[in-house]
Amino acid sequence: MHHLIEQLQACQDPDVGLLTELLAARGDDCELLRAAAHECMRQYVGEAVYFRGLVEVTNICSQNCYYCGIRKDATVVRYRLSEDEILLAARECMRLGFGSMVLQSGEISSDAYVDFICRVVARIKSETRSDVLTDGLGITLSIGVLSRAQYQRLFDAGAHRYLLRIETSNEKLFRTLHPEEQSLAGRYEAIHDLQSVGFQTGTGVMIGVPGQSMHMMAADILTFRRLDIDMVGMGPYLPSQNTPMAGVPILSADERYQLGLNMIALTRLVCQDINIASTTALEGLHPSGRLEGLRYGANVAMPNLSPVEYRPNYRLYDDKPTTQSAQDAVAAIEQIGRKVALNTLGDPRHYYARRQRHT
Ligand code: 5AD
Repeated sequence: MHHLIEQLQACQDPDVGLLTELLAARGDDCELLRAAAHECMRQYVGEAVYFRGLVEVTNICSQNCYYCGIRKDATVVRYRLSEDEILLAARECMRLGFGSMVLQSGEISSDAYVDFICRVVARIKSETRSDVLTDGLGITLSIGVLSRAQYQRLFDAGAHRYLLRIETSNEKLFRTLHPEEQSLAGRYEAIHDLQSVGFQTGTGVMIGVPGQSMHMMAADILTFRRLDIDMVGMGPYLPSQNTPMAGVPILSADERYQLGLNMIALTRLVCQDINIASTTALEGLHPSGRLEGLRYGANVAMPNLSPVEYRPNYRLYDDKPTTQSAQDAVAAIEQIGRKVALNTLGDPRHYYARRQRHT
């Protein structure tokens, strides 16, 4: 394992075979991988953990992804937060010292919804200015595939980061996870649009979905690099009873968990100066999953700031943790010896490097 890690560190252009072998690390070998990823993180982005307060704006969704618990056809009570409810969460975000927030929702491509988000973004920017954040909170959007014109309007309103997961870089696997009207090419095009509008752009995949091989996951990491992505958020697949994929056999929880951590470590080693989030899905498989993600090279935490009464309805998968308070998340991170970076935006270094390369 030692030898393989050194090989990865030495090469400019890692190949998919090497990454596939490294992904298979188990037992003591995982610690070697973890330590290498941690060192890489320290070197390229530092040891600070950046916080984003996550607000789940609405679980209304126009898409029918086969794995997702809030898909259009799922039976779930639908809600949409009001402008004021979101602003309340933004003020809480500020009070906690989290420099950025993430607005996430189902995919709704109407101009009326984009108008609503633009209004909310503009209000957050103007109502959360302070001595430490003179331009207000940083805002990341995660609201799906939209048109370039709509992305431009959201950017102009003041959002500056956008997350759009590709879910997998394997065309065939993508097809088994999504209905006809969606395409991997469409996601790539959207990511390109986001980058050209000027967003700090993130993507991610699910780990351990039925039909996914380690070779495919290794290819996902190379795809993050090829796309010149600034941020990655990814986590293990967790079944949802509310979906057509509910009964399909999957890898054991332990397998998906370790693969999730190894994916974070290898993404750090390959993409180096990007931001990587440690996601809720890891916690779905292990009580300290999100902390472990940070130990494996992630540097972003996204505590949930959605109003508690709506959280049970934003169930992407079964057993989604909904309880930990934001304060507890900060305390737990400090306990594992990581610096907590408060009152700062925490932009990904890769974004600035990318911009320089393109000017
Ligand atoms: N298991 C894990 N992740 C899921 N997501 C949706 N459904 C599931 C699931 N069953 C993830 C997808 C999506 C993000 C918002 O949540 O990757 O992009």
